[in-house]
Amino acid sequence: MKSFMSPHLTWPMKSTVALVQFSRQILVSAAAAVTFIAAPAAFAAGGPVALDATPAAKLKDKAAMQNGAKIFVNNCMGCHGVSAMRWSRLSDIGFTEEQIKALMPAGVKAGDYMRTSMNRNDAKEWFGAAPPDLSLTARSRSSHSGTGTDWVYTFLRTYYEDPSRPTGWNNKTYVGVGMPHVLWEMQKTKSPAEFDSAVGDIAAFLNYVSEPSQFSRKSAGIVVMIFLAIFFVLAWRLNKAYWKKIK
Ligand code: HEC
Repeated sequence: MKSFMSPHLTWPMKSTVALVQFSRQILVSAAAAVTFIAAPAAFAAGGPVALDATPAAKLKDKAAMQNGAKIFVNNCMGCHGVSAMRWSRLSDIGFTEEQIKALMPAGVKAGDYMRTSMNRNDAKEWFGAAPPDLSLTARSRSSHSGTGTDWVYTFLRTYYEDPSRPTGWNNKTYVGVGMPHVLWEMQKTKSPAEFDSAVGDIAAFLNYVSEPSQFSRKSAGIVVMIFLAIFFVLAWRLNKAYWKKIK
């Protein structure tokens, strides 16, 4: 490199060479920094866990989300809430008012948030950790390994028996988890494909909960398109009418 910077080089050439060398140095240090930052992150997560992708069709399927919601209410809400959601809002995924009422626990109003009745302090004592609200889990668990929804989908399918744990269960995706394998009965009575499908439905529901505006946003888009179409026709007719007089 040194011979390259010969005194015969003109000043702009010299500075270009220097600039190229300088950028290369920056690139090398940046690459080193990335390796340095990424490595401990992978270790902190207990080694990179390969996440299974949630079946894509589930994420657009309201019937899947409805089934996921039913499983969630019956198997998860004893400990977890999704307190960003109102019960009445379940109509977004196609439930009728009657169906929502049938899901709601006694003493709850349709306008109430979907909270758990579990006392956080009791839960902490029983499980060593309070069950978090799952409103945003499908987003907050996102990583370079996959979406947060994929994390939930994988997590619920990677429980294994471990007598050394207080609950008797451990999890490959969340090592040392405080939550017992609540879908154990379901996993035992269903075929692996059926169980995967049911878990996919739960993941699809939690994915919807983490972004409930996804449907209203789409319908707003349609309204805007219809408005633009009507506006276009009106403007075109008006334009014609004006020019008629001038011609
Ligand atoms: C008996 C109580 C209980 C039930 C029922 C339960 N969980 Fe949990 N769950 C917990 C506890 C406690 C934790 C916190 C574990 C920890 O951090 O070690 C947890 C953690 C989780 C997490 C990880 C959240 C995060 O980002 O850290 C997810 C996801 C989850 N539960 C989903 C579910 C789903 C879905 C169901 C229903 C199929 C369910 N849970 C039923 C107690 C429960």
